[in-house]
Amino acid sequence: MLQLKKIMGLFLCMPVMLGLIACSSGSAVEEKGITSEELSAISDKETAAPPQEAEDVVTAGAVLSEETKTTEAKNATLVVVFSATGTTKGIADKIVEITGADLYEITAYEPYTDEDREYKNSESRCAIEQNDASSRPVIGSEPVSLDGYSTIYIGYPIWFSQEPRIMDTFVESYDFSGKTVIPFCTSGSSSIGESGHNLASLAGTGNWLEGARFAGDASFDEIKSWIDSL
Ligand SMILES: Cc1cc2nc3c(=O)[nH]c(=O)nc-3n(C[C@H](O)[C@H](O)[C@H](O)COP(=O)(O)O)c2cc1C
Repeated sequence: MLQLKKIMGLFLCMPVMLGLIACSSGSAVEEKGITSEELSAISDKETAAPPQEAEDVVTAGAVLSEETKTTEAKNATLVVVFSATGTTKGIADKIVEITGADLYEITAYEPYTDEDREYKNSESRCAIEQNDASSRPVIGSEPVSLDGYSTIYIGYPIWFSQEPRIMDTFVESYDFSGKTVIPFCTSGSSSIGESGHNLASLAGTGNWLEGARFAGDASFDEIKSWIDSL
């Protein structure tokens, strides 16, 4: 009899216990701000088999870039920068901070060494490339999708009064149709010169604005007032 009472007691408690479990798991989801549909989508992804072959990795990359495109569409500004020693990157970071833009860094497939950048040596890699308008150094960083970006800042250092040839490689590789493109550069003292116009003409697409030159130590306020004036 005692045994029977215990079993009946357990049955009576069960709805209450089930209710408590449901409530506690529901509140964890709500705390993270995700719906049960999103939760099941995440767990579907987590349980998906990892890519096995090189081909699968490419497929996974394609899926990822589709997701990236969604993110890009939310953020209309992109800052593209090439910076051999970090000076122009410092300006790019400030533009990102001011505008909330995404950042894409161009790196050279063959990085520029100190020796390559010896501007007093007419036989250095930089001197040779800059003396040859048809030189197109290969980009090493993963290509970026420009989908969803309506404004693109493009930054670089001045090399022998010009944009580095790798910037020519970049602008010739992308379609800037329908986008506003804003060049900016850093230098020891030279102005931006014809570099912005040259990039615009090599790109052949996009609405290119007059660019600006900054000293490496340009302040946040200086960059902000330039952006506000555009
Ligand atoms: C190969 C080479 C050529 C340069 N030519 C110039 C120039 O013509 N005029 C100038 O003011 N600065 C010149 N500079 C200095 C750079 O433009 C300056 O240091 C720049 O801020 C470096 O930017 P980064 O650190 O982003 O690469 C040159 C630097 C190098 C390495």
